Amino acid sequence: MKAMLYRASGGPEVLEYTDVDDPVPGDGDVVVAVAATALNRLDVLQRNGWYHMPGFAYPHIAGMDIAGVVSEVGAAVSEWRPGDRVVVDPSMAGVADNSKLAGMGDLYGELGILGATLDGGYATRCLAPASHCYRVPDHVSLEQAATFPTVWLTAGHALFATGGLSAGETVMIHAAGSGVSVAGIQLAKHVGATVLATAGTDAKCEQASAIGADQVLNNRTGDVTAWAMEATGGRGVDMVFDHVGTALFTQSLFSLAIGGRLVNCGNASGDTAAIGSLGHLFHNGLRIMGSDPYRPDEMGPLWDTFCAGVGSGEFSAVIDSEFPLAEAAAAQQKMLDSDFFGKILLKP
Ligand SMILES: NC(=O)c1ccc[n+]([C@@H]2O[C@H](COP(=O)([O-])OP(=O)(O)OC[C@H]3O[C@@H](n4cnc5c(N)ncnc54)[C@H](OP(=O)(O)O)[C@@H]3O)[C@@H](O)[C@H]2O)c1
Repeated sequence: MKAMLYRASGGPEVLEYTDVDDPVPGDGDVVVAVAATALNRLDVLQRNGWYHMPGFAYPHIAGMDIAGVVSEVGAAVSEWRPGDRVVVDPSMAGVADNSKLAGMGDLYGELGILGATLDGGYATRCLAPASHCYRVPDHVSLEQAATFPTVWLTAGHALFATGGLSAGETVMIHAAGSGVSVAGIQLAKHVGATVLATAGTDAKCEQASAIGADQVLNNRTGDVTAWAMEATGGRGVDMVFDHVGTALFTQSLFSLAIGGRLVNCGNASGDTAAIGSLGHLFHNGLRIMGSDPYRPDEMGPLWDTFCAGVGSGEFSAVIDSEFPLAEAAAAQQKMLDSDFFGKILLKP
């Protein structure tokens, strides 16, 4: 099969579009003919060598979000047949022993993730445990399906399992055009929260409004804290959902209402952060919460919610652009340049 892989980290020149052996399924596995895979920030962090997940190894085939058609099934697989349209949960937590990908479910250690530590979707075919495949209904395209797993599960886990967001609350979400935030804005609106969204350009702010954000601010030119206070009548927001990290951390803390929580799941602008004032933190009972990996049982219900929302028109998958697999370097450069809103797809 064809794959885009790299044997050492570096610039776009390390990407090799090459032939590799087809995957062979274990008894509990399927092989998916990849129709689309979505880019994530991790793809470029690992390729550049700026960060590697525990368990990462060369050569590496990236691509955490995989949607396609089952092309082969293992001997013990009865629930899938060749031709079935599937999307894959890339987190290898909860994988059955009869899969070749079993034994990698260490949520707080070396969690195996397709396309992050294991071979992923930057290829014409990909191995997946049968238990981690989910049916793509007819009204959802395989491209829409490929936008789902990493960013919708990350956003859903952070907003609800970690942060406990509920109807009537106000949440501020940064980097509104990022994959995680596009999902987060729509999920927060879905449960009846008010969304204040920030982004780095006016155009991204307009696009955030179009997917449901109630108010928007350009965080490169505006004062985030002053805006959040004004938008909430001086009270502050109940939650900030942040994965930008360093650049907006202190402003986020000072934007919180009494008892508010800052839920973080990323560090796109840097890995250190300043609290600004411990007195402000404890006096106001603020909570800083890290959002850990989503759990296997979160995929099914959230996937059903996504499909229903795509069908009703409530949710948009927000596909920014599509590239042939052979042009992965150009697609990754678009991500590095932050020149996108939503998801960038590769079509093997
Ligand atoms: N914990 C988890 O399980 C998990 C899972 C998935 C992703 N993540 C993390 O979540 C983050 C987002 O992932 P993603 O794939 O959605 O990323 P993405 O689509 O590439 O978005 C990252 C965005 O961060 C913003 N940003 C970067 N530097 C900034 C700065 N100095 N000031 C303000 N904004 C800045 C940019 O938005 P603007 O263009 O608007 O400035 C950029 O587009 C990453 O850190 C990723 O590692 C965590």
